Amino acid sequence: MSKIVINDSTLELTIGDITLQDTDAIVNAANTTLLGGGGVDGAIHRVGGPKILEECKKIGGCPTGEARVTAGGHLKARYVIHTVGPVYRGGEKNEQVLLENAYRNSLKAASDHAVRSISFPSISTGAYGYPIDKASKIALKTVIGYLKNHSGIRLVRFVLFNNDAYKAYEKAMNECISE
Ligand code: APR
Repeated sequence: MSKIVINDSTLELTIGDITLQDTDAIVNAANTTLLGGGGVDGAIHRVGGPKILEECKKIGGCPTGEARVTAGGHLKARYVIHTVGPVYRGGEKNEQVLLENAYRNSLKAASDHAVRSISFPSISTGAYGYPIDKASKIALKTVIGYLKNHSGIRLVRFVLFNNDAYKAYEKAMNECISE
């Protein structure tokens, strides 16, 4: 596990399954319908149970880059923050801004719900095809920028699904530190 401290907050990287995290909130890499899917989204709904989908249906969708909050159902986390990352289409379609927005709006939603600890997956780097070397840098820079300017969230954990993803985030974190 790799970690850095920003003001009074810890930013850490770990390998694991986001559905098992005991942070106050976990973030779902959803799609604009909020009606579920594969990857992280499928896993969260499977473990969290049908109440999450019921709430998502009432919310009625989420534009790319925004975030919506539901309860955590059977998950350890109290809240699921559903956000929608961009589909990667070569990098010239505003993908970077949309990915930054997804992270920033998830953190804002967390702050609004007095969340003190939150776990993120690597948004957009699975089905949505964002190259992980680029996405990891954007993810960490956005989170670091937020933590520098906001107090309240004491722990941000990136939960990477395999060793390759972990290594990509570790490299990006080292680059962020040395900039
Ligand atoms: N815990 C942590 N990470 C996971 C888990 C898990 N249980 N399952 C998958 N991952 C990883 C993947 O390996 C990938 O690196 O999460 C990253 C994001 O992949 P996706 O879940 O495919 O998310 P994304 O690329 O944002 O695509 C979103 O996928 O299933 C759909 O409904 C979802 O349409 C939306 C799209």
